[in-house]
Amino acid sequence: MYSSEFQESLKKVEAAREANIAYEPARMTAQEKEELLAAYHPDYKKSEFSTLKVGPNKGEVVPHELCELLEANSRIKASDVDLNDVKYDVDVLIIGAGGAGTSAAVEAHNAGANTMIVTKLRMGDANTMMAEGGIQAADKENDSPATHFVDAFGGGHFAAKRELLAKLVCDAPGAIKWLNELGVEFDKDENGTMITTHGGGTSRKRMHAAKDYSGAEIMRTLRDEVINLGIPVVDFTSAVELILDENGKAAGAVLMNMETKELMVARAKTVVIATGGAGRMHYQGFPTSNHYGATADGLVLGYRAGAKLLYADTLQYHPTGAAYPQQIFGALVTEKVRSLGAKLINCDGKVFMHPLETRDVAAASIIRECSDRNSGIDTGSGKAVWLDTPMIEKIGGEGTIEKRIPAMMRMFASYGIDIRKEPILIYPTLHYQNGGLDINVNGMTTNVENLFVAGEAVGGIHGRNRLMGNSLLDIIVFGRNAGINAAAASKNVTVGKLTLSHIEKYDAEREAAGIKTDAVSPMLLPDYRGNKSGI
Ligand code: FUM
Repeated sequence: MYSSEFQESLKKVEAAREANIAYEPARMTAQEKEELLAAYHPDYKKSEFSTLKVGPNKGEVVPHELCELLEANSRIKASDVDLNDVKYDVDVLIIGAGGAGTSAAVEAHNAGANTMIVTKLRMGDANTMMAEGGIQAADKENDSPATHFVDAFGGGHFAAKRELLAKLVCDAPGAIKWLNELGVEFDKDENGTMITTHGGGTSRKRMHAAKDYSGAEIMRTLRDEVINLGIPVVDFTSAVELILDENGKAAGAVLMNMETKELMVARAKTVVIATGGAGRMHYQGFPTSNHYGATADGLVLGYRAGAKLLYADTLQYHPTGAAYPQQIFGALVTEKVRSLGAKLINCDGKVFMHPLETRDVAAASIIRECSDRNSGIDTGSGKAVWLDTPMIEKIGGEGTIEKRIPAMMRMFASYGIDIRKEPILIYPTLHYQNGGLDINVNGMTTNVENLFVAGEAVGGIHGRNRLMGNSLLDIIVFGRNAGINAAAASKNVTVGKLTLSHIEKYDAEREAAGIKTDAVSPMLLPDYRGNKSGI
């Protein structure tokens, strides 16, 4: 139920609903998209980026907030740690326990490697858990991995590393099969065939889902598998630095108990960074759909140890974050809402874009509507546009919302909004880190041996923009891939003498560059009381 200040605009939305359902808005041309992005997408705002002064990507730009963390002081000094006092000694150390980390752990364990997961919160406290709309895979007769590749390559501005994207789309049908056999309850029709829908930028219906809590369902299954296999998980413990060996190869991590701050040494033959994204950095002041722990830790750990970043200047602002009520500001409103037929409407009741443009274009279009075009709705904490959810029931029939997006219905119902009858207010929210550590097709970083990366901490799989459902896919495909390859590599590794000399080397480089800062990193958890280095 909306208060009186929204009623005038709401009446226009309701009056135009039937006509808006029938109206098929044109897709933008490539040139229109380019111009729109350049003018309104946050990635194109040059003033919001800083040039890195140190490290493998010196001279490249990244968001100010990330630059500050990458150039910050380590949380430890080499002298704080006795590297001979090894608490954990494993073949494969996996840092992070979301979808990528757990997939990697399952495969590494199944390959016979002595595997351990360390996570700063608990297993499943991750963006995977919060993913809603689905997971892409070209496994229907009218589709193919090649078509999937073309959609994703174009959607990512032709910038994806081809070999990574090719692996993503080719391994996708197998990933769905793997999850299905592990017990993920995908939506199926009465014949047992998986139900698939479109996402922004897809030319085929290839989004597989578990209602609108696909990520939670996948995470539930992976967590069960890790527990059933007896893989050790050290929780409430963060990695604060990687350990290298005397030959410069990854050889473990310094771990910190989140409560007592005790430091421990984990030695490993191979290390997998699966620490997830960075939404809690709130780049450019945006709210976020991300988990509390999404603070770019893996990028910091890898970068300080010498690993290269790729496309760290590109972020994804999900077009439809909840903009009202304030209590759920920034929470994800799944793209599936638009897949099911809801259109984006401005304050005058007008459809202003095709609902399934790619995410960067959709976000920029909404920002334009709310800024220069002055066609947004004032929510009291900013501007927003309508997402006309009642269209879904009119198109798909009564009960569609409850059946296909029950979590969305419940979230808004908690605040007295019945999305079957009333539209919702949305605005872009910081959702995904397109860039990250640069890997080869085996999942190993391109320049630090025995250091693997999987999931959102990887850069280059999607290029400069990701399509919906390709993230749940990449955590599975590249999580499994990293686990398999890290386990295989560990068989041939003899770990040399452990060292943290890269911290001193990095400090020397920072000093030579004139960097003076009190900031420390990795952030680990954001501190909403104002401490920029986290808690
Ligand atoms: O809109 C969504 O459900 C988000 C999906 C994704 O980021 O892949």
